[in-house]
Amino acid sequence: MMFILNTTDRHPLHVKLYNQIKEQISAGKLLPHSKLPSVRHLSQELAISRNTVEYAYGQLCTEGYIYSKPQSGYYVSLLEQEFTPHTFQNTASPLEQTFEKPYLFDFHPAVLAPDSFPIKIWRKLLLDCLQKNLEKLSSYSNSQGEIKLRSEIQKYLERFRGVACTTEQIVICSGLQDSMSIIAQLLRAKHSTLAVEDPGHWIPKSVFQNNSYSIRCIPVNATGINLDYLQNSNSTIVYVTPSHQFPLGYTMPVENRLKLLHWAENVEGVIIEDDYDSELRYHGKPIPALQGLHPKGNIIYVGTFSKVLSPILRVSYMVLPYHLLTAYQQQFGNYAAAASLLEQLTLYEFMKQGYWERHLRKMRTVYRKKHDALLNAIERHFGNCVTILGQGAGLHLVIELIGNSGNEKDLICRAEEKNIRIHPLTDTYHSDNHQSAKIMLGFGKMTPEQLDKGIRQLAEAWHLCQ
Ligand SMILES: Cc1ncc(COP(=O)(O)O)c(C=O)c1O
Repeated sequence: MMFILNTTDRHPLHVKLYNQIKEQISAGKLLPHSKLPSVRHLSQELAISRNTVEYAYGQLCTEGYIYSKPQSGYYVSLLEQEFTPHTFQNTASPLEQTFEKPYLFDFHPAVLAPDSFPIKIWRKLLLDCLQKNLEKLSSYSNSQGEIKLRSEIQKYLERFRGVACTTEQIVICSGLQDSMSIIAQLLRAKHSTLAVEDPGHWIPKSVFQNNSYSIRCIPVNATGINLDYLQNSNSTIVYVTPSHQFPLGYTMPVENRLKLLHWAENVEGVIIEDDYDSELRYHGKPIPALQGLHPKGNIIYVGTFSKVLSPILRVSYMVLPYHLLTAYQQQFGNYAAAASLLEQLTLYEFMKQGYWERHLRKMRTVYRKKHDALLNAIERHFGNCVTILGQGAGLHLVIELIGNSGNEKDLICRAEEKNIRIHPLTDTYHSDNHQSAKIMLGFGKMTPEQLDKGIRQLAEAWHLCQ
């Protein structure tokens, strides 16, 4: 029996000894009813005080790992082996051990420009908030989120997105998953089927499935979700991205928007409009939100700060139609808002003091340059071997390779060999009925120069050189 008191472990001596004995008992190294060294003997062996050993033994006795026999000493208890607590092994799982590979060129569609976050101003506002709001920061925020922030969002949505709503209708959420989860539960009493765009974002489908909804996958064409398929789908809720379809980038024309509104009226259905990145439109005016066409209609509008500001903040919002507010308050009135109050307060100051509008304008310029650089690079290095879809907005576009250039998996593998990251577009397809080699190219992270080099290397990898 040997105990070694590890010198790098910063716990006090009695805790180190207690932990070691407990671990050896749990691991079966100290057998039931075996005698432990006497207090005097162990204190001499480890050159520690008797008090230290007595303290460790006393604690183990109290917890039942060992027992004492008068005039005899301490013995290991007999424990049910099956339930013996095993010491937590601090080894990372294989998944955690795989560090993210640093790519030379990263075309991931959801990565922003690393230097775009307004660190200085954010840090200042955050510290100001901490100092000014000490009392507030020791409590929970309103379940719908900070009223001041909701009021800023309301003004912004009215001015920039054509959304007509009141502060009361806005709920602060912590991302798409959070808003979808609330919506799925809110609508469950009257609805059971959700229609999603195919291809489309995977989160709404997963969240509604987890809430026992049936899912209908509706194909997308150049005018957005296919309305004929939707009509025949028997669903009463639809999730759409009408201003910039994710991932193909199409814009739903007003004629289809009006038809979609009719559909919702006819089936007493609900439209979930995800307006995730429509601030980022580079040529021409931003497309107003569908919600603004029929503010009293059955539309739940969803937006986020993840695209223009940062996804790490986990702050998004939704606008509920009036008739869902009472149900929302009944079901979720006792919940605390999922988004951090400190981030909410900082964001409020950021918006109120005019930084958000300035940042928005700046980001539009930054990403427009990258977007244009990517288009030029594609033209220069791919020529007419590809057609481009969904350009002019957001943080990515899609190219379709013309002719027999291999499938997506093969193309992504060939890119990997050159240390280029491409996120598979197939991840966004809910069904398997897609055949052509379409590739999603995000341009948020790289500089215009890197984008050009990256596309040139891709052309080489894919043998598309001009
Ligand atoms: C279609 C779509 N909606 C919403 C989001 C934003 O999600 P979140 O607010 O959870 O960051 C994204 C992010 O990539 C997206 O692609």
